[in-house]
Amino acid sequence: MKLRHRSLPLCGMVVTIVIAALFAPLGYASPSFMSSEPIVPKPRHSRLFRSALQQENLNEPKSDLWTPLVNQGWKPCTNSTSTWSSLPKSSGYIQVFLDGGLNQQRMGICDAVAVARLLNATLVIPYLEVNPVWKDTSYFEDIFDVDHFMEVLKDDIYIVRELPEEYTWSTREYYASAIRSTRVKTAPLHASANWYLEHVSPVLESYGIAAISPFSHRLAFNNMPGDIQRLRCKVNFEALTFVPHVRKLGDVLVNRLRFPAIDTKGIKGVGKFVALHLRFDKDMAAHSACDFGGGKAEKKALARYRKAIWQGRVLNSRFTDEELRNQGRCPLTPEEIGLLLTALGFDNSTRLYLASHKVYGGEARISALRKLFPQIEDKKSLASAAERARIKGKASLSAALDYYVSMHSDIFVSASPGNMHNAMVGDRTYLNLKTIRPNMALLGQLFMNKSMNWLEFKAGVVEGQKNRLGKIKIRKEKQSIYTYPVPDCVCQQD
Ligand SMILES: *[C@@H]1O[C@H](CO)[C@@H](O)[C@H](O)[C@H]1NC(C)=O
Ligand SMILES: *[C@@H]1O[C@H](CO)[C@@H](O)[C@H](O)[C@H]1NC(C)=O
Ligand SMILES: *[C@@H]1O[C@H](CO)[C@@H](O)[C@H](O)[C@H]1NC(C)=O
Ligand SMILES: *[C@@H]1O[C@H](CO)[C@@H](O)[C@H](O)[C@H]1NC(C)=O
Repeated sequence: MKLRHRSLPLCGMVVTIVIAALFAPLGYASPSFMSSEPIVPKPRHSRLFRSALQQENLNEPKSDLWTPLVNQGWKPCTNSTSTWSSLPKSSGYIQVFLDGGLNQQRMGICDAVAVARLLNATLVIPYLEVNPVWKDTSYFEDIFDVDHFMEVLKDDIYIVRELPEEYTWSTREYYASAIRSTRVKTAPLHASANWYLEHVSPVLESYGIAAISPFSHRLAFNNMPGDIQRLRCKVNFEALTFVPHVRKLGDVLVNRLRFPAIDTKGIKGVGKFVALHLRFDKDMAAHSACDFGGGKAEKKALARYRKAIWQGRVLNSRFTDEELRNQGRCPLTPEEIGLLLTALGFDNSTRLYLASHKVYGGEARISALRKLFPQIEDKKSLASAAERARIKGKASLSAALDYYVSMHSDIFVSASPGNMHNAMVGDRTYLNLKTIRPNMALLGQLFMNKSMNWLEFKAGVVEGQKNRLGKIKIRKEKQSIYTYPVPDCVCQQD
């Protein structure tokens, strides 16, 4: 059976798991776990929830809730621009094949540019693998503005859209069918600059091309030459923009969120909105191995899904629900995120943009959130099918649209610290935009305490979140510069 690499974001760590490819190419019918079962998620925190509903009016509107972050004394480093006077002679072509969803691929693209620069190589526009969960077949240029990408990086590295004639044999099919000497498949996770010089330079020298796969998370964040680190910042924060039609539709959505057609007289916070990333699909729910209140049917369905996809290799399933919650390893449910936002002072006049793929449990699960926040919108509620035609059925393009709208929100919050959350935290830090980073362990503990009343819960949330609403956080050793761009990409103001 064919093996595939995939990664799941988990509490800021990325756990790479090797799974058996889901569907053998034999025309199997959908496996039984795909069938829909009647799962009725019950509210898990009904007491807090009832209080939250009643408390809405009593919520003192916090005056600084919507105010933009103050200047924290940091700004994007000006030395993120090119310091090379001229490009050295190219040593050959670097090709990468990138796994994962949009945001994982985005990091891979930044790292690929850095590796190409390290090796004085020419980068071939990265190939985006089709992810078994997201199933989007879009190419790089279908998602990212390739002209902009090449223009911004033109003084940093050579980039080509396609390999020249003499190398067109170097395709993913070629590498999938046999062991090939131009393929580099042994790059360790977080490999050093030296690793690439030692192991990939010789391949370039011998063959004029090196195809690196797998490549996700294969370049370290520490002990990188300063120019390489700066280049990674430049790619992530400046060179990567979405294709014009995604940006245009994103602007339409942002505009409709800011200036709704309905009469908004008397509603606070008009013109402002919170983007909520709710990655709560079956994949995430199953992988976390937490109990989400869907009863026996849900537990069984998720266990079956785990068995089919990861064949028992999900470490989380060794822990009890309580242990997982204590460690902050359970994504927040829509109900829980609603309680978090209410505790922070948002109320039923707050406009929420739901950035998400699919919510496991569907409307039954979202309804709790909708009760607290009736003004929930998403791309479907804001734009017609005709307007969305070009992204229809494309998970990566939809994710790109959600990313764009989320970047333009006043406040961003995510229900679990996965790849989208991490990318957004980094991008918004770069521009000093307000971002709520849920304190997962603390929230897990608060939600487990069934004797807490609303005011105690609210006080606990406010205390636990006080430094997690956009306050600059300096990157720690080994953390990602794409999530924590200070101080590598964001520098102290003079
Ligand atoms: C890249 O080019 C620079 C400038 O010519 C040179 O100093 C450096 O050794 C080259 N590095 C590699 C890996 O070829
Ligand atoms: C950019 O310059 C600042 C000082 O202005 C320095 O602190 C920082 O380390 C530099 N960044 C890199 C990646 O070299
Ligand atoms: C918000 O909630 C209050 C009661 O808590 C209610 O009077 C008001 O109509 C609600 N507003 C909206 C827009 O639902
Ligand atoms: C639950 O919350 C109450 C009220 O804040 C507190 O007194 C109690 O110690 C908490 N229980 C646990 C197990 O943390």
